[in-house]
Amino acid sequence: MRRVYLDHTATTPLDERVLQTMQRAWTENFGNASSIHSYGREAKVLLEESREQIAKSIGAKYDELYFTSGGTEADNHALKGVSFASQKFGKNHVIITAIEHHAVLHTADWLREHGFEVTVLPVDSDALVDPQRVEKAMKPNTCLISVMHANNEVGTIEPIKEIAEIAKSRGVVCHSDSVQTVGKIPVDVKELGVDILALSAHKMYGPKGIGAIYIRKGIRIESIIQGGSQENNRRAGTENVPLAAGFARAVQIAADEREVMTAKYHQQRNVMRKRLFSEFEGLIMNGHQQWALPHIVNVSFDSKRNRVDGDALIVGLDLRGVAVTSGSACSSGSMQASHVLLAMGRDHDTAKATVRFSMGRSTTEEDIDYAVDALHEVVNKMKLAVTA
Ligand SMILES: Cc1ncc(COP(=O)(O)O)c(C=O)c1O
Repeated sequence: MRRVYLDHTATTPLDERVLQTMQRAWTENFGNASSIHSYGREAKVLLEESREQIAKSIGAKYDELYFTSGGTEADNHALKGVSFASQKFGKNHVIITAIEHHAVLHTADWLREHGFEVTVLPVDSDALVDPQRVEKAMKPNTCLISVMHANNEVGTIEPIKEIAEIAKSRGVVCHSDSVQTVGKIPVDVKELGVDILALSAHKMYGPKGIGAIYIRKGIRIESIIQGGSQENNRRAGTENVPLAAGFARAVQIAADEREVMTAKYHQQRNVMRKRLFSEFEGLIMNGHQQWALPHIVNVSFDSKRNRVDGDALIVGLDLRGVAVTSGSACSSGSMQASHVLLAMGRDHDTAKATVRFSMGRSTTEEDIDYAVDALHEVVNKMKLAVTA
């Protein structure tokens, strides 16, 4: 059976070239980057070169970028680190949005349980955050605003620059979860005006288990992992140099290939949208038409016009070799309606009847056709089951 992977937003395969870089580092640079001897110094050189390359790619200085275990840790560090550092100065209010990744949402819940005040901002039907709402939500005790750069389910790109300007004018720290944008669209921390940014390697053909946090110089933030003095005392634990080297290589390749890939994704997205909307009835497009990541196509079957079971949709596609996501979280074996789609105003059944296709470097137009054909088969089978 043909297998088509259209879930590149969840994770990407490891690039061969990244693997080669890491293989060399695993064997040649095994030293502990904190050791004084030559093995340690060589590992340290590779670590710092990798840091410099990644920092440069987002317009940051090398001593403003710290390695983490991934995007989740970077988000945790941003929210907990700023909140606890600000609490001492009487600031204990955090603003997030309803469409954030669970790395932010659940961290904000945890902060609430630990005495912090959290405001969750709504979004419009395209998943856009209104900067004016951000302004209105600010209070004298606000210490942090966290808005993702682009949403991982529907691809909408948020007006971070405007939000960061508002935050700056109020002396509030601005964090943006950029896990889905770095490597896909240009990201420059100075241009965006953010104070903190979260990155992850496995969304851009790099290894799993490594990410980074950009922290602008001068930002008051506490560490969340205590131990040795690695990462300039910001993040304790022996650095994983081969993963850092792989991350840097992945960043470099993504930058080199971004223009070509973006053009390809636009073309494939057009082909897919055209087929979906001319061949299926009652489909709703999720995500902003213009301000969105080009490799994501997220559609829902409107519950007022269709009786489509979201779980059966994903399983049916999987049985035909097509790997996609419904955009809903899978917990204890059952699919939940996506908090993002609910926040966008979709009703529960429509939110559940959703498919997110996300293209990658190796995706071909034949893959797109195969996936749409498979969707027809699954939906037709459901219709038969309903009429039987
Ligand atoms: C927007 C966003 N933030 C954070 C994360 C978590 O990143 P990681 O898997 O590196 O912990 C993800 C991963 O799906 C994501 O899409």
